[in-house]
Amino acid sequence: MITITTPTGQIGRTVVDRLLGVAELRLLARDPDRLPAAVRAKAEVVQGSHEDPDVLAEACSGAESVFWLVPPNAQAADLDEYYLTFARAAATAFRTTGVRRVVNVSTLGRGIAHDAGHLTAALAADDVIAATGVDQRTLCAPYFLENFLNATAFIAEHGMFTLPMDGDRPLRTIATADIAAVAAELLLDDSWSGRRDVPVIGPDELTLDQMAEVMSEVLGRPVRFQPADAEQYKAALTAHGVSAASADGLIAMARAQNEQRVYDSAQRVPRSATTCFAEWCEQVLKPAVAAYERDRAGSAG
Ligand SMILES: NC(=O)c1ccc[n+]([C@@H]2O[C@H](COP(=O)([O-])OP(=O)(O)OC[C@H]3O[C@@H](n4cnc5c(N)ncnc54)[C@H](OP(=O)(O)O)[C@@H]3O)[C@@H](O)[C@H]2O)c1
Repeated sequence: MITITTPTGQIGRTVVDRLLGVAELRLLARDPDRLPAAVRAKAEVVQGSHEDPDVLAEACSGAESVFWLVPPNAQAADLDEYYLTFARAAATAFRTTGVRRVVNVSTLGRGIAHDAGHLTAALAADDVIAATGVDQRTLCAPYFLENFLNATAFIAEHGMFTLPMDGDRPLRTIATADIAAVAAELLLDDSWSGRRDVPVIGPDELTLDQMAEVMSEVLGRPVRFQPADAEQYKAALTAHGVSAASADGLIAMARAQNEQRVYDSAQRVPRSATTCFAEWCEQVLKPAVAAYERDRAGSAG
């Protein structure tokens, strides 16, 4: 039995797609109605949040392996405490149920990142789980390509995207589908033990300026990257309902990327993550921009 948290999330649902019909699955979902009917028909479902140790223990009871991550929360009042709450609940549930293996999603930057907002919080959460002694593979990811989807409207309307990062520094990235593929492989493999970080890093080494060039080519229109002033970026985030703590965490993460080279030293595992940026733009960004423009034309007409 494999227990999967966040089965409706962008990584979790792809892990489910890869394992459904291959292994016995138990999915922990806050709202099971958000799972496709075909998934509900083939997997056991427990309703609730893995923030609650009792609910997670129920979902993990009798399971051999668990897929686990901390759900993003743009409204978190205290970032470190938010990540630690999930991690402590997980540690309690893993100890009481005797789960053997945990595959969790975290970040690159262990031993390098300091005062790095979300990165620091995620790395501390890994340590809480590691202290249980459970066999653990931590998928250490750089910047998700799917983060660029937050800029779909800006790209469509203004031909630009903006982040408080340097445009001329390489930014390592990963497609979430590639993280899910590595997770599914590890969840099916019962030969590993102990604790290890597994870097999951895409094949490109592009700067944000170079990514803008690739977007321009794929979308067939000019797209440019505009570095953002950190304070203005924070003001824009909080105006859109992001908590001050979460906005500060994102700014700190970007600063760490600019100044500490947090993603740069990790060794890429050959063939582990294969989606290149141009391919992702063709398969994911281009349809998202087209859908945005269709919706806009529909609501204008
Ligand atoms: N973005 C990056 O660049 C980056 C880089 C490295 C690591 N990471 C890490 O990657 C993870 C994000 O994974 P993702 O992109 O797959 O997330 P996602 O697509 O945002 O999915 C979030 C999932 O969590 C569930 N969820 C939300 N709030 C919850 C709560 N309070 N209790 C229980 N479930 C809850 C959601 O389910 P429902 O809403 O359906 O209930 C959904 O299934 C985070 O841990 C982040 O730190 C991100």
